[in-house]
Amino acid sequence: MSLLEVRGLVVGYGPHPVLHAIDFDVEEGEVCVLLGLNGAGKSTTVNTIAGLLRPQSGEVRLDGRSLGRRSPSARVKQGISLCPEGRRVFPRLTVRQNLRLGAWSRRRSPRAVREQHDLVFDYFPRLVERQDQLAGTLSGGEQQMLAVGRALMSRPRLLLIDEASLGLSPALARTVWEVTSRIRDGGTTVLMVEQNAGALPFADRALIMEKGTVLHTAVGEQIRNVNLREAYLGA
Ligand SMILES: Nc1ncnc2c1ncn2[C@@H]1O[C@H](COP(=O)(O)OP(=O)(O)O)[C@@H](O)[C@H]1O
Ligand SMILES: [Mg+2]
Repeated sequence: MSLLEVRGLVVGYGPHPVLHAIDFDVEEGEVCVLLGLNGAGKSTTVNTIAGLLRPQSGEVRLDGRSLGRRSPSARVKQGISLCPEGRRVFPRLTVRQNLRLGAWSRRRSPRAVREQHDLVFDYFPRLVERQDQLAGTLSGGEQQMLAVGRALMSRPRLLLIDEASLGLSPALARTVWEVTSRIRDGGTTVLMVEQNAGALPFADRALIMEKGTVLHTAVGEQIRNVNLREAYLGA
């Protein structure tokens, strides 16, 4: 059984669906990239998995059990955490305070929260020097690291990251992608949304999305042979 199973998911913002009955799996212990052009339906997909959008039909299963109509906070407790598109940090709070908010679901176990703090600082050493700084004063790359770090504070089994590389320099984008491998090795499965095919080498599984459908799945070695022109650029 896969950690995440998406089945027949139909989602829209009005009468017309944006996702057309998509199906895919993510196995525990992998980094999976959901790759597609702007407007393909990537954010709609991860936002639905996180419980922010309600499907018209179909379901999302974690460990084989349907999440049904569970709220986003209930899903966080079950181990699903979303780092949403657009680097949303609280600009007037410090780095430390931002991280603390990400640990809200675990606030009754301060020790676990401290451990998670240490883990996030280990993944993103840049944040250590910045921990007492207001998040709004960080560079774009640092804010993105903080956003990913905050999503990690709930100690998720499945971390959803929506376009972490957007607006970052190629070097910083690589840094963020490299950290996803470490996050995976630390026991958190990662599903990351990307428009940038540069993320492919960091993935164990790649899903190519176009116009609300998953066109193509590649696993392991097949990822190198993903024909981007056909599968991604829709030529
Ligand atoms: N809040 C919204 N209201 C109406 N339409 C939306 C909304 N968000 C996204 N869409 C539409 O849904 C489609 C998929 O969008 P999205 O999931 O954001 O794609 P991606 O993340 O791949 O760029 C697009 O056609 C977009 O215009
Ligand atoms: Mg998007």
